[in-house]
Formats: sequence, structure tokens, C-alpha cells
Amino acid sequence: MVDAEQRNLIEHMKTWVIQAGQRIEKARESGISYREKTSLRDLVTPIDLEIENFYRAAIKKVYPTHKILGEEEQGEQAKSLQGSVWIMDPIDGTLNYIKQADNYVTMLSYFKNGVGQVGMIYEVSAKKLLIAIKGKGVFVNGHFIKPIGKQTCLAQSLMSVEALDLNDALSLYEFSQKSLGLRITGCAGLDAWQFALGQTGLYLNHLFPWDNAVSVIMADLLGFKVTNFKGESLNLLDREYVVMAYPKIHEEFLTYVKEKFED
Ligand code: IPD
Ligand code: CA
Ligand code: CA
Repeated sequence: MVDAEQRNLIEHMKTWVIQAGQRIEKARESGISYREKTSLRDLVTPIDLEIENFYRAAIKKVYPTHKILGEEEQGEQAKSLQGSVWIMDPIDGTLNYIKQADNYVTMLSYFKNGVGQVGMIYEVSAKKLLIAIKGKGVFVNGHFIKPIGKQTCLAQSLMSVEALDLNDALSLYEFSQKSLGLRITGCAGLDAWQFALGQTGLYLNHLFPWDNAVSVIMADLLGFKVTNFKGESLNLLDREYVVMAYPKIHEEFLTYVKEKFED
């Protein structure tokens, strides 16, 4: 992507996520209604749908030929990552939005032929914007984020795990004892953000493409890995088991998983 084109795209994205944040806040202040989507723990509000519609309309106006993959399926869904594809999670952490009025984000990413170009996570209540730009770096409110280093080891790191049963076949609770401790945010975007800042050294979850898109872009920029539990790249089309870690801890986790399944 040429620079002027990239600058334009970034400016559009910034405007859209900030406007989305304002709408989300306004809706929260005037009282949130919600319904169950798949279960009592999986809720959706009218504003989840409204924000996806807002993003879709804004993108289509400027980039009419681009494809879109959105959690709330408010229009045609991209079936592959060929060409120009936008991936969006209108509100990530909807349960937090409803129950905590805090700790939720909106996420928007742009991919070209499967390669992430720009990803944004906007933490609405804190008004903080994380931007990951291919070839440039990761920035929070304009400040460059330095990679925390490949030598990070689990024994000196906190880890976060969610949507995975800690008593399952992998005995993740047992594995977590190798770390300094567990943290759970209830928001994949915030987990990725904390990871990028080095606040955690390992993140495990069972996530959808819209939860993972920005992390995949950040991984290349900061030198960490985001893969499935076999160590393969994410396909960004299906829900997958996800491990996010710097190489040493990543290897430690994959070895643990392999041994568990060989038992
Ligand atoms: C959820 C959150 C949560 C994760 C779930 C996601 P949503 O997103 O990111 O942290 O554990 O798997 O579905 O539904 O609030 O967009
Ligand atoms: Ca969502
Ligand atoms: Ca989500």
C-alpha cells in the first residue's frame, strides 16, 4: 500500500472507531437493553448491531468493492481473505459493557490478500486508541510500543485464560501454576492489548476471527506468536483455540499440550 493511501485509510478508520465509541457510550448512558444470543453468557444489544451497520455503511461508501467479516452478520460476509477484507467486532466484551459499564472495546482491521495492514482497538470508556500498522509498529494514543523481548519466560509472567475450562483435558489450572498468576478481563481486545504492553506473557482462549484480527497484525510487528494449539497460523475464518505468546513461552505451551495429548 502506498503511503498516501495508507494515511487515508488510517484517518478513516480512526474517525470510524471514535464515532462508534461515542455511539456506544451514548447508548450506555441512555440504558442498555439486551437479549441472549446463544446462551445466558452470550448476550447481544441493539448497539452491537447498530455499530456493525455503521461500520459497514462507512466502509461501503469509501471502498464499495471491499469485503467485510463482522461478528453480527449484518450484511454479506467475506468467505475468504482474498482481496481487500475488513474484519470487525462492533463491541468486544459485550457482557462487560452490560454488567460493568467498563472494560469493552470496539475493533476494526483491514487485510489485503490475507495480510493485515492496519488494526485498531478503541477502549471506549478510557478513550484510548491502539493502532497497529504494517511496517510501522503499534501505537497507543500515538505512543510507539516497544516489543518486550523474545526471552520472556512464563515463570516471570502473568498469564490470562478465558473461555477455556480450567479443569479440562489440558489441566490448564495446573499449567497456570508455572506462571506468576492468572488474570481474566472478559474482553479479547483488552487481553491482546495487555499482552502487547507486556502486562501478561501468555494468553489462551477459544476465539473468532474478529477477536483475533488485530492480534495477528500486532504479532508481526512486536515479534510474538498467535497460533492455534498445534502451532499453526490462524485462518481468520473459523473459531479456533488460540495461544498468544513470545517464542519461548509459546514453545513451552505447545510442548505441554503435546505431552498432555500423548499421556
Ligand atoms: C467475547 C470476549 C471474551 C471472549 C469471548 C468473546 P464478545 O467477545 O472477547 O473475552 O472470551 O470468547 O466472544 O462476544 O463480547 O464480542
Ligand atoms: Ca462482539
Ligand atoms: Ca469478541
